[in-house]
Amino acid sequence: MYHILIVDDDKINLTAARNALSGSYKVTAVTSGEQALKFLQNNICDLILLDINMPEMNGFEVMAKIRENDMLSDIPIIFLTADSDPQVESRCLQEGAMDFIMKPFVQNVMISRISHALELEALRQDLEGQLEARTRHIKYIQEMMVIGMATMVESRDLSTGGHIKRTSMVVRIFSERLANEHDSLSKSFLDMVIRAAPMHDLGKISVDDRVLRKQGRFTPEEYEEMKKHSAEGARIVKQILEGVEELDFVEIAANVAHYHHEKWDGSGYPDGLVGEEIPIEARIMALADVFDALVSKRCYKEPYSYDKAFSIIDDSVGTHFDPMLARIFLECRPQLEALYDSVCNDFSQNIL
Ligand SMILES: [Fe+2]
Ligand SMILES: [Fe+2]
Repeated sequence: MYHILIVDDDKINLTAARNALSGSYKVTAVTSGEQALKFLQNNICDLILLDINMPEMNGFEVMAKIRENDMLSDIPIIFLTADSDPQVESRCLQEGAMDFIMKPFVQNVMISRISHALELEALRQDLEGQLEARTRHIKYIQEMMVIGMATMVESRDLSTGGHIKRTSMVVRIFSERLANEHDSLSKSFLDMVIRAAPMHDLGKISVDDRVLRKQGRFTPEEYEEMKKHSAEGARIVKQILEGVEELDFVEIAANVAHYHHEKWDGSGYPDGLVGEEIPIEARIMALADVFDALVSKRCYKEPYSYDKAFSIIDDSVGTHFDPMLARIFLECRPQLEALYDSVCNDFSQNIL
């Protein structure tokens, strides 16, 4: 049953409205804006009938307070007014009321107005739900396409099978810890970093096969060729995501691709950024990327033990890695070891 809140300082009108509606709806009646706001702190309702002229807080002020609150801002409001001035009517609608009812009200008119408003609101919620589901679906398809592309790029690079999936899982574990320990990193930001992680090496698509598949160390020229993948990755990420994703996500994903090989002391590539000049999303990615390279088999090395990998990271705090982030990363050791001991064993066989 729909729940209607009636707010009117005129007790006769309040009682009449309550009597008229209580057969069809659950009704709560209060006599002031303050009482209405207090009620809404702990209760939710489907529609508010709100008197305009009340002492202390008038109807417009009550509506403004309700609209400020994200939890309440969608509740339809119908104003009750004894004022037949068209200016008041137009102000009611302009300020966001769904409708208004003249006092003294005619019972049937009031009931049909309320039922229309509720129908309209149900329709709006339904449409909003459908739109959200559709947007979620489009995002899912897009994410799957990006992961598919990243996996295709990775399949050219015989030495790093599973790197994309593993680093994404590492970023997820790391981000969960960061969310608890680092107040300035919001959950929505960290969620975007997690979504961006699979794209960090997309630029390898433009690296020459001979370099990408080379067994052994790179010559200086080959290393230059390999280094191209970071800036190139940012360009590709922007091309894929721009116009489809929100701008802040496009920027985060492009930064992750562009700057994940930068180092805290400025000795990284492609731009030699120093310290906090490196976007934090790329500093997060760098830890996950290096950790995976250390504990995985590469064409030029066997996997390192966890002890060795974590001590290399520890030794690189303040040179390669952001000291604050690296400290939190090192605290993730139990979860990271558990991850690599279980699922990651499957990925290291190049079976993806
Ligand atoms: Fe890379
Ligand atoms: Fe990588």
